[in-house]
Amino acid sequence: MKTIKQIINSEQLNQPVEVKAWVKTFRNDRFIAVNDGSTIQNLQLVIDPEQFDENLRKKINTGAAIYAKGELVESMGKGQKVEVLVNELEILGESDPEKFPIQPKRHTLEFLREKAHLRPRTTLFGAIMRVRNTLSFAVHQYFQENNFLYVNTPIITGADAEGAGEMFQVTTLDPAQPPRNEAGEIDYKKDFFGRKTNLTVSGQLEAETYAMALGKVYTFGPTFRAENSNTTRHLAEFWMIEPEVAFMDLHGDMDLAESFVKYIIKAVLDKNYEDLQFLEMRLKNEEKQKPQAQRSELALIEKLQFVLDNNFIRLSYTEAIEILRNSKAYKKKKFKFPVEWGVDLQSEHERYLVEKHFKSPVIIYDYPAKIKAFYMRLNDDEKTVRAMDVLFPGIGEIIGGSQREERLDVLLQKMKDLGIDQEELYWYIDTRRFGTAVHSGFGLGFERMVQFVTGMGNIRDVIPYPRYPGNAAF
Ligand code: 4AD
Ligand code: MG
Repeated sequence: MKTIKQIINSEQLNQPVEVKAWVKTFRNDRFIAVNDGSTIQNLQLVIDPEQFDENLRKKINTGAAIYAKGELVESMGKGQKVEVLVNELEILGESDPEKFPIQPKRHTLEFLREKAHLRPRTTLFGAIMRVRNTLSFAVHQYFQENNFLYVNTPIITGADAEGAGEMFQVTTLDPAQPPRNEAGEIDYKKDFFGRKTNLTVSGQLEAETYAMALGKVYTFGPTFRAENSNTTRHLAEFWMIEPEVAFMDLHGDMDLAESFVKYIIKAVLDKNYEDLQFLEMRLKNEEKQKPQAQRSELALIEKLQFVLDNNFIRLSYTEAIEILRNSKAYKKKKFKFPVEWGVDLQSEHERYLVEKHFKSPVIIYDYPAKIKAFYMRLNDDEKTVRAMDVLFPGIGEIIGGSQREERLDVLLQKMKDLGIDQEELYWYIDTRRFGTAVHSGFGLGFERMVQFVTGMGNIRDVIPYPRYPGNAAF
């Protein structure tokens, strides 16, 4: 059986077609709009009320699953090119109109989050999920075309040293009565893995060991952080893409990041134009309720095109601090957080640089060593590390990456200074003991990219079942 997308694109007029889909609306006892998820477009089914008995017609309600067979003809009505003149109709699954929560009207995103199992029935979530699908597939396509190997790093990990975020513990011990050792501490030797384990916050350290053998690798998997961040940019469970490349320095890393994100955005422009048009309209309507100053200057599709057509601005952290300190916003004390060399950039600073000053995606590199992770390559100034963050308008940090410290002695010293257990990470250190080499990588937060491309303001609306503090329903 063909999908609605195939039927609409087939242009095989005056031929019999069959369709199985869900009812969106039923008007004038005659016109049924149905959708099967294959496209944002509904297919119009036309029935002659005389031909179908009332008991059947009463069951053509929003949300019902139906089967129809008929003839595909050119449509006389506005809004669709083709329609189906139905001669066979069957209700596959009824839907009680009094109880089905997704009615053909505008629902708030908050309401739909409560109905996360039914929100894919809406036009909006269909569009978001098709875009998300295109992005995922394009991730693999980009790396496969560029000779990267896809590696699957562990989700349950015994290493908790990256320090990328708070971790979720994985245990089979009974929390009410855990076994205890002589000192009275919980005895993890008796736990499932014979040690304490957590859900991974990043596959990077393991990916590095594979890059140091296979050259170019990437991961694309679920990542978990137990930060108590109730923001529109954080999830407790999100998907991250982490390429890692041997013999590549920070400049290569920035080039890779830029070319990669442009490729996956272009894939959506090529494949999901109708979805994007709908998402653009939604965003425009939403922004009408905001003050002028908070509205984006570019419409959604223009914004995506802008990212493709322009080089990302690259500047060092030190230059970024200078720009911020010379800004009107700083002088008028508009920033809540301090701006001085050595502090971590807050989202208000990132947004100023990206949205006000440069009006472009920005890559900031060479951050102070003190605010970045232990594995980043120390520069000759001994104050900064070869880190880079890619910042996007409306999102802030979308990518974080770095050239890795490949010098054994420097790495060991850094771990010592930060009190990171070298015994536990002996396997990571081994990459520097045996055939060490310059290498680099980064992590792209997949949902932040989906947010950027769809224009959705809240990260909870771009993943099927969001996980955040206080919520793990479904
Ligand atoms: O900057 P982060 O913490 O970098 C790493 O984890 C490195 N190990 C990556 C690497 O070099 N291989 O995270 C990378 C990206 C961020 O830029 C952000 O887009 C996303 O992951 N991210 C989150 N997305 C959603 N919810 C969260 N709680 C996130 N935390 C990070
Ligand atoms: Mg980061």
